[in-house]
Amino acid sequence: MAEAIVIYPAPLLTHQTPMAEFAKLLLTHHPSLSIHILIATTIPSQLPSSAIPPNITCHYLPAVDLPPSSTGPLSLLFDAIRLNNPNLRRALLTISNNYTLNAVIFDFFCTRFAFEVVSDLKIPAYCFCTIAAGSLSSLLYLPTLHNRFTENFQDLNVLVDIPGVPPIPSSDMPSPVLKRNEWYEIFLNISTCLPHLTGIIVNTFECLESKAIKAIRDGLCVPEYPMPPLYCIGPSIAYSTADGGDVPYCLKWLDSQPSKSVVFLCFGSSGSFSMQQIKEIAVGLESSGQRFLWVLKNPPLEDQSLDQDLNSLLPQGFLERTKERGLVVKSWAPQTAVLNHDSIGGFITHCGWNSVLESVCAGVPMLAWPLHAEQRLNRVLMVEEMKIALPMVESETGFVCSTEVEKRVKELIESQESDSVRQRTLDMKRAAEVATSEGGSSRTALVKLLESWKLK
Ligand SMILES: *[C@@H]1O[C@H](CO)[C@@H](O)[C@H](O)[C@H]1NC(C)=O
Ligand SMILES: *[C@@H]1O[C@H](CO)[C@@H](O)[C@H](O)[C@H]1NC(C)=O
Ligand SMILES: *[C@@H]1O[C@H](CO)[C@@H](O)[C@H](O)[C@H]1NC(C)=O
Repeated sequence: MAEAIVIYPAPLLTHQTPMAEFAKLLLTHHPSLSIHILIATTIPSQLPSSAIPPNITCHYLPAVDLPPSSTGPLSLLFDAIRLNNPNLRRALLTISNNYTLNAVIFDFFCTRFAFEVVSDLKIPAYCFCTIAAGSLSSLLYLPTLHNRFTENFQDLNVLVDIPGVPPIPSSDMPSPVLKRNEWYEIFLNISTCLPHLTGIIVNTFECLESKAIKAIRDGLCVPEYPMPPLYCIGPSIAYSTADGGDVPYCLKWLDSQPSKSVVFLCFGSSGSFSMQQIKEIAVGLESSGQRFLWVLKNPPLEDQSLDQDLNSLLPQGFLERTKERGLVVKSWAPQTAVLNHDSIGGFITHCGWNSVLESVCAGVPMLAWPLHAEQRLNRVLMVEEMKIALPMVESETGFVCSTEVEKRVKELIESQESDSVRQRTLDMKRAAEVATSEGGSSRTALVKLLESWKLK
């Protein structure tokens, strides 16, 4: 029987995308391997069909009925994953009728539930982490922290020591573990499953996070168990496709701007701000005098015409006054194409891990403005450890005032302080190229992973 690998991402575009890229990478290195991706459909997938080539098999799992209590993004997500377990089992059994299954690689978010099924079927289980090694370190260390503290992280107000990671303010811990609720429980459970997997794959590279990677490998994060092998295969990112169609206007506009002069603001697929915060950003950008390309999202304003939207959202006359040096686009821009444009001089980002890797691969220094999930922890890693970003400093309530925006934007584009960050980001861009080339650390990790499957 032919040999196959199954890849099972969580139903989130930001997880499906790097895992689909990883699937392509496996296929490139072992063309005879049959690769199957399981796509959960309970939360409709936004992965474009072009993301998965025909030589990778896609299995769409039937949608499951969610309980009425499934409200809010995390409930939806984890209920969908949990209730998908029978579908997962059925899909694996069907595939194993025709193939020898060498491994199932599930999203680390699926670990708590998928591991039960995969280990019951006696198939080697791997997880794919769409997060930084520094975040993985904090996740692996959660049971230790759970025993060390009795209070919620959000109420602690201490610096948390995690192996291989700079001290993390307790309020900067990943948002699902800030309070000891059901999400905390699930992450605690994910964390206790991880050491029992056959291997852990991380979308990062050695040079970017050498300390965190070493700490995990040395077993410092999980003192009670031997660590399974860690495969750092990144950066695995998807480039925006300019498939012969119209070049988006924002790229044409960038062509007319000087080299390394424009600051790009984009806050991920779910990064929207209050009206008040949008106004502060606008005022700050205007008074900074810098050039900017701003991807503005505001869900309540969907379905209105672009001009009405932007004008009613932004301070009066803002678009007119800044039209020579700024462009505001609604909702979306081809992020990797923008980051790789010569006119971009800096990136204001929500610190989602895919965005960070995309910026590193483009050699663009960042200004870290985290919003949700593990993004505040990422800011600490990016500023203090990787040294590829300057911090945006918010008030206690999370609000960022216009003077802070102005100061940081100027700093990012024109100050000497950002020179070292810019240089370091360029060094990391080169290091990423080396890591993914023949003999590089990420390429070697991929080869080792393939070898561990003893493929024919
Ligand atoms: C798989 O298909 C893609 C797109 O058609 C192609 O570029 C790639 O070379 C193929 N890979 C292998 C290993 O056949
Ligand atoms: C398995 O193989 C059988 C017989 O060759 C074929 O009819 C069937 O479509 C295959 N199923 C899958 C899931 O590939
Ligand atoms: C965590 O795992 C244990 C053991 O498998 C299980 O009994 C418990 O219900 C799990 N908790 C959650 C929230 O998943």
